Amino acid sequence: MEFEVKSGVPSNQRTACLILGVFEKRKLPKVSDDVDQACNGQIRQLLKSGDMDGKQGQKLMLYSPQGLPCKRILLVGCGPEKDFTKAAYRKAVEKAVSTLKDTGATEAVICLPHLTPKDGTSYSTFRDTVLAAEQAWYSFTECKSDTTNGKHSLRKMTLMLADRRQIKKAVKGMEHGMAIANGVSKAKDLGNLPGNICTPSYLAEQAKKLKRKSRKLKVQILEEAQMEKLGMGSLLSVSRGSRQPAKLIVMEYQGGKPKAKPVVLVGKGLTFDAGGISLKPAAGMEEMKYDMCGGASVLGVMSACLELKLPINLVGLVPTSENLPDGAANKPGDIVTSMSGKTIEVLNTDAEGRLILCDALTYAERYKPATVIDIATLTGACVVALGKHASGLLANNDDLAQELLDAGIETGDRAWQLPLWDDYQEMINSKAADIANIGGRWAGTITAACFLSRFTTDFKWAHLDIAGSAWNSGSTKSATGRPVPLLTQLLLKRCRLDG
Ligand code: BES
Ligand code: MN
Ligand code: ZN
Repeated sequence: MEFEVKSGVPSNQRTACLILGVFEKRKLPKVSDDVDQACNGQIRQLLKSGDMDGKQGQKLMLYSPQGLPCKRILLVGCGPEKDFTKAAYRKAVEKAVSTLKDTGATEAVICLPHLTPKDGTSYSTFRDTVLAAEQAWYSFTECKSDTTNGKHSLRKMTLMLADRRQIKKAVKGMEHGMAIANGVSKAKDLGNLPGNICTPSYLAEQAKKLKRKSRKLKVQILEEAQMEKLGMGSLLSVSRGSRQPAKLIVMEYQGGKPKAKPVVLVGKGLTFDAGGISLKPAAGMEEMKYDMCGGASVLGVMSACLELKLPINLVGLVPTSENLPDGAANKPGDIVTSMSGKTIEVLNTDAEGRLILCDALTYAERYKPATVIDIATLTGACVVALGKHASGLLANNDDLAQELLDAGIETGDRAWQLPLWDDYQEMINSKAADIANIGGRWAGTITAACFLSRFTTDFKWAHLDIAGSAWNSGSTKSATGRPVPLLTQLLLKRCRLDG
């Protein structure tokens, strides 16, 4: 979609749809009230009918308002004015855009940016408008033969600005919103593609394509032979059971000073996780095509970073493989040697994410990184603990953990921290090897992070378990593109560009 910032009189806008907010109980904010007066009180009259009182999630369409050049007015509920936060704002924008999906409007003028949420700024409001609009507009049609589906598509949205002095912040917010939204959509597309299309080789091709966006990006794909030479016995043990060769995607973006230490992102890229010999049950197994969403988010963040031309050094590492049962696959009890030299007893072949991540984390050491963040759909236990609303966060550094929590709150793409106390470490002791790849029934998210922590002692590190947040199940089954907003916010903040 195309976006534009404009200041002017809302009621004078010649548009297919003018979008206005209504607070609870039928309270019109100033901008909506102005439009109401311009059309002889038609809006208030309509509200009096009782069809809408401004509750969050409500909407009402008014056609051909009297004396105005717009074809429609779309009223969206914003909830109680005193509770009008960024979260409520984003929901109102999403509702407006999803409503437009069912109309023939090809463009719209949105007046919601006149309402600044109490925890927001002009910058964040314009950024959120674009991001929420794109999120709601997104649909995955790549695998449909008929993509037209009889629907018109919204092509352009004009964002109304109340105060001309805020124009710079507004435009900056809009542009940042577009870059983040593109990153989110990229991550969603990759996540939504099925395992037979989105293979490790496909992911690698997608990473190479990112080079078109910037000359400052280098992309290298490490093949199995190279990984063998590096001693990545843990990663390779997972791909042995697959016909698709594993890849290690290495993306290096030099936007900062040549010697500045980079931020390294490591994303789990399991393009299909059947569990291996420790085979998963059949019901719902198709959702394991989403097991590469961590890797997809790294590509998404890299894409946003390139579009934003961030003055930072960023490395993206995506170990990518399938996990399937096969005569050559890992067997329970096998002992493999990781790149770090540590030996691992594979007690459950379904705990494969950590096996591919540990070698990528060891590879990260060569960058002498400022920070390493890994992102992985790592444990079902995280879904049990936090559901879909929060990503699990574990870290060996409290400042870094706080930075991630803050970026999550800022974007609504939130994380929740779990403890990484030493007390848990003994749960992954192995009799036969240096470490076991599972820690028993309890605290599964924590013991998975404990496993990774054994490979991250040389740098500041945080782990995001996105098993619950990376995709929605059920009827709304689709990737969410999380945590691209959170991570991009963290980078923007480090560059002091987030406002
Ligand atoms: N990819 C799964 C984790 C997962 C499960 C994510 C369900 C989202 C929904 C991971 O590879 C896995 O299978 N983990 C096991 C670990 C266990 C064997 C210790 C799990 O969570 O059951
Ligand atoms: Mn698994
Ligand atoms: Zn997995």
